[in-house]
Amino acid sequence: MRILAVGDIVASDGREFIYNNLGRIKNKYMADYCIANGENTANTNGITVDIANTLLRSGVDVVTLGNHTFANKEYVDVLTDIPQVIRPVNFPAETEGMGYYIDDLGHLRVGVINAIGRVHMDPMDCPFRATEKALKEMEGKADIIIIDFHCETTSEKLAFGNYFDGKADIIFGTHTHVQTADNHILPNGTAYISDIGMTGVRDSILGVKKEIIMDMYYTRKKFRFEKAEGEVWFSGAVFDYDEKLRKVTGIERLYFPAKEI
Ligand SMILES: [Fe+2]
Ligand SMILES: [Fe+2]
Repeated sequence: MRILAVGDIVASDGREFIYNNLGRIKNKYMADYCIANGENTANTNGITVDIANTLLRSGVDVVTLGNHTFANKEYVDVLTDIPQVIRPVNFPAETEGMGYYIDDLGHLRVGVINAIGRVHMDPMDCPFRATEKALKEMEGKADIIIIDFHCETTSEKLAFGNYFDGKADIIFGTHTHVQTADNHILPNGTAYISDIGMTGVRDSILGVKKEIIMDMYYTRKKFRFEKAEGEVWFSGAVFDYDEKLRKVTGIERLYFPAKEI
């Protein structure tokens, strides 16, 4: 089985790219299952019911979120009505929706967890303890565990990855919108990458118009973000999972524009 993970899909350009190309990407990389981070799908933050449903119809199996979960007011409907869309498990307990989803494919039960970091991010419950609690609840109910750890720093990501090495099968990072080159299998068998990057306009700063972000840092004034225009690049990773051996055997980084599919 091959599992495709799609890095933060940003704004209308990013999501149109996925709507139009995900089928071909899944075919090319022989991916049977797809998890996508959708926290920036609604210009440039949050997610709507329509976007979530269109992503699912386009071939995404589970949508994960992050610090922009609440940016669009439709988050309540998304999280309440669409169980395949999950939010970080370490949000306050009364938050709508779930921090994990178990997908019973018949031959395999896929468990996906979303967690969020705490360094240079909003204060949250402990992602380690919340993930441990989720793993306990999922015990005996999922055959493979995949975690999207939405987090700013590579040190917190590496600590999380190594802490759950052997307890999860795949741990990939999201949030920075910049792909890291550290994909490898950890000593106890967990496939790990600190960040799978962004699916959005490449000639941008994290999907936002470059001029706005440069001005923001130069003048220290806050500006309203506007989505960038230009060529969209897909960014993500594909994982090989051997169902007989019940372990991940490979992890490959992906980064390409539409014309290369
Ligand atoms: Fe984020
Ligand atoms: Fe993001």
